[in-house]
Amino acid sequence: MSFIVAIDGPAGTGKGTIAKLVAKEFGFMNVDTGAMFRCVTLAMIRENIGISQSEKIEKLLNEIKIELKEENGEQVVFLNGEDVTNQIRTPEINSFISDISKIPQVRTKLLELQRKIAQGKNVVMEGRDIGTTVFPNADVKIYLDASSEERARRRVIQNEEKGIVMTYEEVLESVKRRDKEDSERKISPLKKADDAILVDSTNLTIDEVAQKIYSIIKEKM
Ligand code: DC
Repeated sequence: MSFIVAIDGPAGTGKGTIAKLVAKEFGFMNVDTGAMFRCVTLAMIRENIGISQSEKIEKLLNEIKIELKEENGEQVVFLNGEDVTNQIRTPEINSFISDISKIPQVRTKLLELQRKIAQGKNVVMEGRDIGTTVFPNADVKIYLDASSEERARRRVIQNEEKGIVMTYEEVLESVKRRDKEDSERKISPLKKADDAILVDSTNLTIDEVAQKIYSIIKEKM
């Protein structure tokens, strides 16, 4: 038996933090699907592969090894055995990722991987299309949202912690661009599933969002 919690929504809504808390609270496995798209993006940049080079992309996808592990309570991401946890969260990756997440071969490969990882397990999986495409029959579907201004404000704080220098205006622009590209792409666009529960985190603390989601999950268990 497996119990699946799908958390979807745009960047900066706190999906990552919430998924981590849910995993801890219920002892579920946490699957960050954005990290998988980030690994493919990093691999393509490193190998200098363009988005229209189908054959090269196919080869890369056949050979790529992406692993999500937990070490001391923190998620560690491995690309072909190398720890790339920090390297996949740079402005450079953010600027390429929407184009790479549109590539049908990339989506097919990661869809397979996401379903395989969850097989027979209790998982909380966060991304953009989990409740709509990856697990349309998920036990709990949450769509986490927040205003773009609030999301940009949060990202500026995260960037400062990581030593990334970007103004609020630049971050807001990048947040809006990625929202637009993620929700307008043809395959698996970012969209609230009809049966997903909308949680707006604009004026809520992380703890308030977490409590809300815990009670939704407990009701379904
Ligand atoms: O959650 P994140 O910001 O790490 O995701 C990075 C990008 O990956 C996001 O802009 C779109 C893509 N993505 C996707 O297309 N489908 C998913 N399930 C998860 C992420």
